[in-house]
Amino acid sequence: MIKVSNLTYIYNPGRRDQIIALRDVNLTIQPGEFVAILGSNGSGKSTLAKLLNGLLIPTSGEVSVENLSTNDPDNLRRIRQLVGMIFQNPENQIVATIVEEDVAFGPENLGLARDDIRRRVDRALSLVRMSRYARYEPHLLSAGQKQRVAIAGVLAMMPKYLVLDEPTSMLDPLGRKEIIDILKGLNTEHGTAVIHITHFPEEAVFAHRLLIMEGGRIISDGSPREVFSDVRGLKHTGVTIPPMTDLARGLVELGLKIPQSILTVDEMVDALCSLN
Ligand SMILES: Nc1ncnc2c1ncn2[C@@H]1O[C@H](COP(=O)(O)OP(=O)(O)OP(=O)(O)O)[C@@H](O)[C@H]1O
Ligand SMILES: [Mg+2]
Repeated sequence: MIKVSNLTYIYNPGRRDQIIALRDVNLTIQPGEFVAILGSNGSGKSTLAKLLNGLLIPTSGEVSVENLSTNDPDNLRRIRQLVGMIFQNPENQIVATIVEEDVAFGPENLGLARDDIRRRVDRALSLVRMSRYARYEPHLLSAGQKQRVAIAGVLAMMPKYLVLDEPTSMLDPLGRKEIIDILKGLNTEHGTAVIHITHFPEEAVFAHRLLIMEGGRIISDGSPREVFSDVRGLKHTGVTIPPMTDLARGLVELGLKIPQSILTVDEMVDALCSLN
């Protein structure tokens, strides 16, 4: 598991312009979990993400992955294999000029045998549904396809945990949906733990667990249905509820007998169809 204990992170500590980005955060993430994180700009989401695989080291407190603390530099190589990281902009994450060579980059650095690298690359491209683009040049791909290649590059390292920091924010609706479908498949079929930071409340409804961050703290932690039903709690966080939840509330106010806690279009359709 990933264990975050009394984690505080300060940018430029001790200077006049210091910023406390995380304040005494405690969090445990189990293997196989699907966790979404929402929070307003500057609430500390990206800082937390970077601490989970040792890209940043705690100012105080500890982050450990499978009992390996990021405070010990000797652990970082192993931790970065265990915890894969995907960022917003796919352009910055692709290094090679051919898709399959890009995906092979990580495993090659591990010094694996050629056959093993080949197997990992084929598997990773298949998981993100990009096998037929193996010989393409990345610059010919759409932003969504590039992001899938970037994800394949991380999957080729066979991480146990995948942390994605707003992976869909630069994509069109179709590209976004494809990424979400891939994340769901990785989680349910392959048991990869997914930690998905997003600005889109409708993307958070697929998670087992939803965290809301505000001012460097986790202020809410529960199932998406629980968290989104706490309207008062969300009010000051800048986090909005999913469109279907909002619509359901409006319809309930108009007197329709449907549940207020609807999260998805499918649930809305079911609720409306069972009205009589
Ligand atoms: N490299 C940096 N140097 C100094 N301050 C930083 C740095 N990166 C982030 N911060 C500050 O730390 C705080 C948390 O930022 P962080 O990027 O973690 O928030 P976030 O929740 O990811 O925001 P967003 O939704 O905009 O991506 C903010 O006040 C931010 O200005
Ligand atoms: Mg961020």
